[in-house]
Amino acid sequence: MKATVVAHRDYVISQIDDRLYGSFIEHLGRAVYTGIYEPDHDTADENGMRKDVIDLVKELKVPVVRYPGGNFVSAYNWEDGIGPKEDRPTRLDLAWHTSDSNQVGIHEFSDWCDSVGTEMMLAVNLGSRGLDEARNFLEYVNHPGGSKWSDMRIANGRKEPFNTKLWCLGNEMDGPWQIGHKTADEYGRLAHETAKAMRAFDSSLELIVCGSSNAHMPTYPEWEATVLEHTYNEVDYISLHMYFENRAGDTANYLAQNVELDNYIATVSGVIDYVKAKKRSKKQVYISFDEWNVWYHSKEQDKALLAGNHGWPHAPALLEDIYNFEDVLQVGLILNTFIRRSDVVRIACIAQLVNVIAPIMTAPNGAAWRQTIFYPYYFASVFGRGTALNLAVNSPTYDAPVADKVPFIDVSGVHDAEGKTVTFFAVNRHLTDSIETEFSLAGFEDAEILDHQVMTHADLRAVNTAENPDNVAPRKGSGASIKGDVVSVTLPPLSYQVIRAKV
Ligand code: AHR
Repeated sequence: MKATVVAHRDYVISQIDDRLYGSFIEHLGRAVYTGIYEPDHDTADENGMRKDVIDLVKELKVPVVRYPGGNFVSAYNWEDGIGPKEDRPTRLDLAWHTSDSNQVGIHEFSDWCDSVGTEMMLAVNLGSRGLDEARNFLEYVNHPGGSKWSDMRIANGRKEPFNTKLWCLGNEMDGPWQIGHKTADEYGRLAHETAKAMRAFDSSLELIVCGSSNAHMPTYPEWEATVLEHTYNEVDYISLHMYFENRAGDTANYLAQNVELDNYIATVSGVIDYVKAKKRSKKQVYISFDEWNVWYHSKEQDKALLAGNHGWPHAPALLEDIYNFEDVLQVGLILNTFIRRSDVVRIACIAQLVNVIAPIMTAPNGAAWRQTIFYPYYFASVFGRGTALNLAVNSPTYDAPVADKVPFIDVSGVHDAEGKTVTFFAVNRHLTDSIETEFSLAGFEDAEILDHQVMTHADLRAVNTAENPDNVAPRKGSGASIKGDVVSVTLPPLSYQVIRAKV
């Protein structure tokens, strides 16, 4: 079987916003406690943050991290997480049926962001609370001083404002599971008024309004239309979420699911344009895909805890999906879709970063290691910055329950003009066959192969563990060749590849 991919220097989709490779940390399970924060750990720094985790996050070059939720934020009192640690209250978290000691709050999280070299993206509680809490939190976080909340921040040890630009107006407000769930009109009004107040404080903020929790919500896509009709001129992004699963064990169908993701983005992009036209607005709203990942491996084991059968534990193991090799392919496919739709998806956050449906796992008092999905996220974040190329792809296809004519070869391409490289991220979805693929670099001069990384595994269910952390890992490919401006590579069945050319 053969496929061809043609990239042309001038045929581009968009400049990629670096924040396409963001992530997310929620006060959920062990994401914070024994994830990023474990004061008794051997590697803990002076703030109680695990340095082994900081090092892994740094490797990923995560540009932005959303915090503190998630469902958690919809009943969160941000004031519980400030001031002397010994005075902070333990609260019951209604979203995940756990308790939270509040030993980590905005100060500790911001210091951690500085340690890993990332920006904060903060969510306000529009579930159990509203506009007033949001404006106070904003003043605490961003006002230099001379007001009630900013002076409190200074008294709590932080003179300079945190200067957070990106703010989420609540989380998944369309979901009946959300504390303080609202109809689209109720939420749209509240989001509009909250955005107005936040902009009155600082008109340069970037505000994100909640879209649908997934494309199967009964209110989708009417939710987006109604919410944007209320908020279009006050917000910059609409947030979407999507999680992928292969409960049926049907690999071909699982690997076709990013076609659904593509449709979801296209539909919401259409709704944005519809509202823009209706409002006769010049302004463009974009998509913040601020929760995405594979999430299904842990769902069964979490049921008892979420039903409240274990009381209100602090930082229990929750949503601890152990990812396998098949999920490497899925994450590669999702990231390819985001790169191809970087014209409308400006921000995206893999959910989440540590322990909770995450690329990084830790053992309390023990090791930290890379899950299988660490690698496609790593490659995209590190080498996927620049301009997304509009590739002409010619690949044999297959039909799956979820979509017809799914190309076996799924590929995205990024031109980094500064670094003088072109990088292709390619997945061969074929279950049994290699595909000889030619990548043409039209309009680029003096191309040479810089690197070729391959991920394959004999066992789709292979995982990484603390004891065997490198079971699924990339290796250097040896079979790529170049003739003129054409790179030829044989892509083995069920493989993920990164092909980099110097141009
Ligand atoms: O990321 C896990 C959860 O998934 C988040 O808390 C919520 O927003 C979504 O439903």
